Amino acid sequence: MSYPYQIKSAEEYQAAYHKSITDPEGYWAAVASSFLWRKRWDSVLEWNFNTPEIKWFNGAHLNITENCLDRHLGSLGNKPAIIWEPNDPEEHHRIITYRDLHHKVGQFANVLKNNGVSKGDRVCLYMGMVPELAIAVLACARIGAIHSVIFGGFSAQSIADRLQDAQAHTVITCDGAYRGNKQIPLKSVIDDALVQCPFVTKVIVLTRTHTPVSMIKGRDLWWEDEIRKVETLGIHDCPAQVMEAEDPLFILYTSGSTGKPKGVVHSCAGYMVYTTYSFVNVFQYQPGDIFFCTADIGWITGHSYILYGPLSAGATTLMFEGIPTWPDAGRFWQIIDKYKVNTLYTAPTAIRSLMSYGLGPVHAHNLSSLKVLGSVGEPINEEAWQWLHQNIGKGNCPIVDTWWQTETGGILISNMAGVTPSRPSYATLPLPGVDPILVDENGQEILGNDVSGNLCIRHPWPSIIRTTYGDHERCRTNYFATYPGLYFTGDGCYRDQNGNYRITGRVDDVLNVSGHRIGTAEVENAINMHSGVIESAVVGYPHDIKGQGIYAYVVYSSSHGDENLSRQDIIQTVSRIIGAIAKPDKIQFVTGLPKTRSGKIMRRILRKIAENEPNSIGDTSTLLDPSVIDEILKNRI
Ligand code: WT7
Repeated sequence: MSYPYQIKSAEEYQAAYHKSITDPEGYWAAVASSFLWRKRWDSVLEWNFNTPEIKWFNGAHLNITENCLDRHLGSLGNKPAIIWEPNDPEEHHRIITYRDLHHKVGQFANVLKNNGVSKGDRVCLYMGMVPELAIAVLACARIGAIHSVIFGGFSAQSIADRLQDAQAHTVITCDGAYRGNKQIPLKSVIDDALVQCPFVTKVIVLTRTHTPVSMIKGRDLWWEDEIRKVETLGIHDCPAQVMEAEDPLFILYTSGSTGKPKGVVHSCAGYMVYTTYSFVNVFQYQPGDIFFCTADIGWITGHSYILYGPLSAGATTLMFEGIPTWPDAGRFWQIIDKYKVNTLYTAPTAIRSLMSYGLGPVHAHNLSSLKVLGSVGEPINEEAWQWLHQNIGKGNCPIVDTWWQTETGGILISNMAGVTPSRPSYATLPLPGVDPILVDENGQEILGNDVSGNLCIRHPWPSIIRTTYGDHERCRTNYFATYPGLYFTGDGCYRDQNGNYRITGRVDDVLNVSGHRIGTAEVENAINMHSGVIESAVVGYPHDIKGQGIYAYVVYSSSHGDENLSRQDIIQTVSRIIGAIAKPDKIQFVTGLPKTRSGKIMRRILRKIAENEPNSIGDTSTLLDPSVIDEILKNRI
């Protein structure tokens, strides 16, 4: 593979950026020319942010899996596409070449077809980080089914909500998943979810942990049996379904400031072009490099930079089933040593957690293969940046701080490794095609440098969100209505003297806990389901490892019982309703919440208390009962 669109110097970056802003259509048409199309586009871009309606490469026909698989068979057929490292270092790893992967995707695509799945159907995947998850995702794309991967840490209720929203009739899961020394009974969680989803007619179950599961006749099928069936039928390759550029590729649910998680929809052509383009440029991928992204495929990072971006670029992508701290805190470093990894793309929360184990686990392994380091998910603090730079990169690996979102599909603001300069805690500069703008509360553009504001983007890039599944209006109001004519990110941002961007965090009621997005309203709803709870308010506070922790203020009905037991109960409830990732770190029982006369909870005040900044609480005169503040302050945890 060669990448004619790969930018190799700061001057080339400047030129590409200039071209992409003055002639976006020309710029992206040239990039798109190096992909495999069944039919070329009629127009490069049609767009209207007010409705919103965005069409990239309209009229083109393609299948993303032909770009990720078929086009590599000639020159890269025997090259590893996926290296899979199991949870347990004692278990054998797997190397799947492009040829193997093509074969396996075809096989499973035929299984899906055999089970009645066709173009446009939604298929939900709830699996651990096993190669079959990658295979199943690509098999869906092969036949034009819309995949919706649900992270393995979500609860039965969260799964049911997503299945209902997507109206998915097919679910693919595993008997269980390994995570460190734990086993997660995935199939049994699915069984609980499906009680609320009678429309699900097929559940395909992969054997992983050999945990006993119950299989419902007519509904539940073993993955291995289904593969054998298509083999016996003698069906081999599965021709790729020809897709329209704007046909949906997948749905991925993500939290917002209100209501239930929304299904972010990405479409085929633009997503393919942009994830590949950004992968090649930000990480400066060179043929033969081994790329290790530590995310889970249940999140957008895994979709874009474990699967689609790397595979479309013909890269070798490393997929790791386990966790950074098991069997010991040297697991990442051992994997890097074992496979001679060239690029490590990980999250600040993982770095901070590994920092706490000292340098012993780092020094036990040879990290000299590393060329590039990447960070994603939350602002990387200076201390973590320096630690990564010095101890992992040994002072000579550029660090890319990549800012983006589920909705943006790919990286929008980042330095390019070794090409444009890095600066600790700065995502730095926009990629070509990305036109950031800072606005004030009223939507007025904030011009000049050394300024802060709300981060918006002015012009569509190819992998921008197309809709929120089943509710286009929600997409409009969430992202395109706050500041008419602009895509609103929900992030606050500072632009320095030289035009470098530094993301300062969410400006809405969304938390970022260990790089995972969690809506405060969602956690409150879960807490309120506990029978003893009258009402609650949830805010974030700075947390050494997680970035943000979850602080819950709870008005509780039965004040007699043991407070700690009640806390445990509430935490259990949140785990059951959302999943363990949303568990509050701190719960403070209060007799009342600070509210305005109209009944609105003043979160600003609660945030200041949780952040331990009581002096900046500010004006409380509009409160219905200012005395609640004193009580809350007195009992702060
Ligand atoms: C939010 C998006 C994009 C993949 C992972 C998270 C925060 C993400 C950075 C960064 C500062 C970052 C933002 C953003 N964020 N990357 N490099 N620096 N903040 O995806 O769950 O959609 O969350 O994560 O607040 O809005 P997500």
